[in-house]
Parts: sequence; C-alpha cells; structure tokens
Amino acid sequence: MNLCRIKTKSLTILLWLVLAAGVLKQGEAAIGVNWGTISHHRLSPKTAVDLLKVNKISKVKLFDADPQVVNALRGSGIQVMVGIPNEMLSLLGSSPAAADLWVRQNLTTHLSAKPPADIRYVAVGNEPFLGSYSGQFQSYVMPAILNLQQSLVKANLAGSVKLVVPCNADAYESSIPSQGAFRSDLMQIMTQLVSFLNTNGSPFVVNIYPFLSLYGNSDFPQDYAFFGGTNHPVVDGPNTYYNAFDGNYDTLVAALDKLGYGQMPIVIGEVGWPTDGAISANLTAARAFNQGLINHVLSNKGTPLRPAVPPMDVYLFSLLDEGAKSTLPGNFERHWGIFSFDGQAKYALNLGLGTGLLKNAKDVRYLPSRWCVANPSKDLSAVANHFKLACSVADCTTLSYGGSCSGIGEKGNISYAFNSYYQLQKQDVQSCDFDGFGMVTFLDPSVGDCRFLVGVADTDDASSSGWHCGIWIVSRILIFMGVFMVLLLEE
Ligand SMILES: *[C@@H]1O[C@H](CO)[C@@H](O)[C@H](O)[C@H]1NC(C)=O
Ligand SMILES: *[C@@H]1O[C@H](CO)[C@@H](O)[C@H](O)[C@H]1NC(C)=O
Ligand SMILES: *[C@@H]1O[C@H](CO)[C@@H](O)[C@H](O)[C@H]1NC(C)=O
Repeated sequence: MNLCRIKTKSLTILLWLVLAAGVLKQGEAAIGVNWGTISHHRLSPKTAVDLLKVNKISKVKLFDADPQVVNALRGSGIQVMVGIPNEMLSLLGSSPAAADLWVRQNLTTHLSAKPPADIRYVAVGNEPFLGSYSGQFQSYVMPAILNLQQSLVKANLAGSVKLVVPCNADAYESSIPSQGAFRSDLMQIMTQLVSFLNTNGSPFVVNIYPFLSLYGNSDFPQDYAFFGGTNHPVVDGPNTYYNAFDGNYDTLVAALDKLGYGQMPIVIGEVGWPTDGAISANLTAARAFNQGLINHVLSNKGTPLRPAVPPMDVYLFSLLDEGAKSTLPGNFERHWGIFSFDGQAKYALNLGLGTGLLKNAKDVRYLPSRWCVANPSKDLSAVANHFKLACSVADCTTLSYGGSCSGIGEKGNISYAFNSYYQLQKQDVQSCDFDGFGMVTFLDPSVGDCRFLVGVADTDDASSSGWHCGIWIVSRILIFMGVFMVLLLEE
C-alpha cells in the first residue's frame, strides 16, 4: 500500500460512488467476468483491477478469496463474488468454527476495511456436482452451506452476502428443454439446495458451455453453438430453439420448475469460448460466440420459457488466459481469456458496457525483450528430452493440433518450448542452456499468429514518487469533475 493511495482513499470512494450511481442509472450491468489466477505470468492485481475499470466491468467472480486480489478490489466499485474451493467443503461442513473463521478472515476483514471490498456473493464450491468428480464433494455441499449461513448470521452479514453454488450444466439433462430435470442422483440435494437459495433470495448459478458440446461431440451441429441462426433448430412443442445456449438455459428452467421454483433467478457463472489449442478454438469463433452471446443477453429477449427475462448476471469465462491450468479437459483450457495473460485484448469485443471495444491493460511491466530459441548451429536430434521436460513445466499447448503455433515445424517447436520455459524461469540465463542446445536472442521469433511470449514482471510494490502521486491525485480530480459534469448534463 503506498502513501499516495492512503492519502487519497476518500477521494477515490467519492469518485466511485458517483460512478456507481451513473452505472445504476443506465440499468445494464449484467455482464461480468471470471478472474482466475492459475498463471505462470500473473498480472499484478492492481493492473488487472485497472483493466476491469477501464473496460467498465463492474462484476467479477473469483475462484477463491486470495487476499491480494480482494484487497486490490477494495474501493474499486466492482461487485465481487468470492469462491470456496471444493477441497475446503468437507472441513467447512463438519466444523462450524472453521466456517466462522472463513467468514471472519475472508469476508469480515474485507467488508469492514476502509474502503471495503464490495463482496456480494460467496460461491460455495465450484461445480461440486460435476459428473467426473464421481460424487466426492456432493455430500459436503449442504452441510457447508448451512454452517456458512450460520456464520454469516453471527457476523451480521446474512443480509448483504449471499451463498450460491455454481453448477455445471451436467447437473440436469433432457433431449428437449421442456423436459429438463436434475440428474436423478442429485434430486434430493437439489431439492434442499434450491429451497435454501429461494429462502435466502439467492440465484441459481450455472455454467453453460456450447464450446464443450461442440468439442466433445462430432454430431453436434456447429451453427447451433453460435447465435447467428441455425439449420438445425430444436423444435420443442410450440417452442423452437435456434442456439444451444437458450436450449440449455431452458432445460434448467424446466428442471427448476419441476421442483416448484420455475421463477428462481438464474445467473450464468461461466460462459465463453477459447481461442487456441484446438481446431474449433480460434479467435474468429470466440469473437462470434462472445459477441453473439452479449448481444443476445442485452437484447432482453429472454428465452421461450422465460420471455423478456434474461439471466440476472452473466460472467464471461474468462478475463485472462491462465497458462498453468491443467490440460486435462483439453489443450484449449489455457486459452479462455478475452485478454491474453498480459491483459492485451485478443479480438474486437464490445461488452455492451458503454466503452466500445475492449481496451488493453496499461503499464504492464514486461521482462526484457529477450527470447530463448534452439541454437541453429546444433544438430537437434538429441533434444527430445529437453523438449518434453520444458513442456511438462511450461505451456506448449499452442503447438498442438489446431493451435496457433502448430505449423512452425520441428525446430520451431523446440524453440517455442525452450522460450516458454525460459520466460517461466523469469529469463534466468541457466534456464536457456539445455546442454548447449539453447540460445538467447534479441530478435522476436514470433511467426504469423504464433506468438513467442515475453513474461511479465509485474508487482504492486513499485515505489511511487511524490511526482507520480501528484499526477495521480490531479488525474483523479479531473476524472471526478468529468463524471460530475456528465451526470449534471444527463439530469
Ligand atoms: C480464506 O481464503 C483463502 C483463499 O481462498 C484460503 O486459503 C484460506 O484458508 C481462507 N481462510 C480460512 C480461515 O479458511
Ligand atoms: C474456427 O472455429 C470454427 C468453429 O468453432 C471452425 O468452423 C473454423 O474452421 C475455425 N477456423 C479456423 C481458421 O480453424
Ligand atoms: C510439434 O509439437 C507438437 C506438440 O508436441 C506435435 O504435436 C507436433 O507434431 C510437433 N511438430 C513437429 C513438426 O515436430
């Protein structure tokens, strides 16, 4: 925390109160983003929060409650959903004291700070009912929820913070939307969960991925995954579905209706399209899907079963690429960002928040412009092990079939792997040795769409001189005056 920011905290609060008022007046802040941090090259939390602000993204969903991230969101005017990893559910479900402690450490601290973080939701687990978990978290969800709710009541937060459980769309099934029902093994737990949500005024949170339907099923009609019309509409009695998103959404509506909660508000916890690592994961498709989705949601058309009632909130997956995620789901898993790992917009996208196309992160601090490549004067037939080792630690998913670097040849492959590893090691000289097969270069080896990255060296502790502080205060005052005048004109 630098001195400059402490001194001007109150000014910032005032500024964001005014901005928040402006946003509310427009009444359309339904688009938010997921912010995951499983990356070898993490943007500093402050840089990422500035990225959210410059793009007027006012809702963010996290997968944990990392204090650095939540601290950076304090006083930002951004509404936050923090998360509890599945691995913590059994403890929180069995120990009221652990739940109390979690609430104290991860909510009360931030909510009573000055300025506070605007935490509205706690996601209890992340897709805990996912079929591939074989039920290992299932029985802990309701006990954890009930303990946490007690802790919220004790901490006097039950009115302002709501518990939710983000579910994968595999929690329900049906071939046509109107017949939607929760999975039979989940019936009992869903009945309890939905009743709890209803009592507490919480929404049902669901993650919907037409990309995965297309990726995992060669019979899935490609045009049905998007929003541009389809030659394969799904006819369901009087209703016709022209895109997978609506069909899936209404399957959930029908499943909720069967339990007696057909009107329960729905939040889309995750939805998006990856840009690399598979044939159908590319920039054109990601842009088409995300823009189509945003336009569709903001048109307020709703769906056949919920006409004119769009989802309450939609959190895009994701803000940034996360190059250290598991590739178990597929090589695309590290490429869901609307921004690359360093906060640069991957494609032209209008979030509908009044700022036009995506704006890049500013003041990102990179490592020096240096890359590690295969030494061209060496016979590379013996480097297979180095290649494997580098790629087992660093990210090489763009080399895979359908990826942006899949066409750069064997030598290119090796260079790419060496560089990926070298950047991950923060350009440590030793890390480019590879028994003499590696070589540092100052010429960017990127070819076409295949980008050889330079890591970021971003931290929050940059010392801020008095001069910077002065500029910072003046800029805030100018922004404040600008916003004030805009509001005045709107009256
Ligand atoms: C608070 O959240 C963090 C991050 O998710 C977690 O590591 C920590 O254990 C939590 N605190 C408690 C007391 O459970
Ligand atoms: C991009 O993905 C779409 C579908 O997701 C696919 O039809 C198209 O061929 C892909 N484009 C390229 C250049 O691979
Ligand atoms: C480059 O590496 C990828 C990923 O390991 C592999 O699938 C591809 O066949 C390689 N290409 C060449 C030309 O060696």
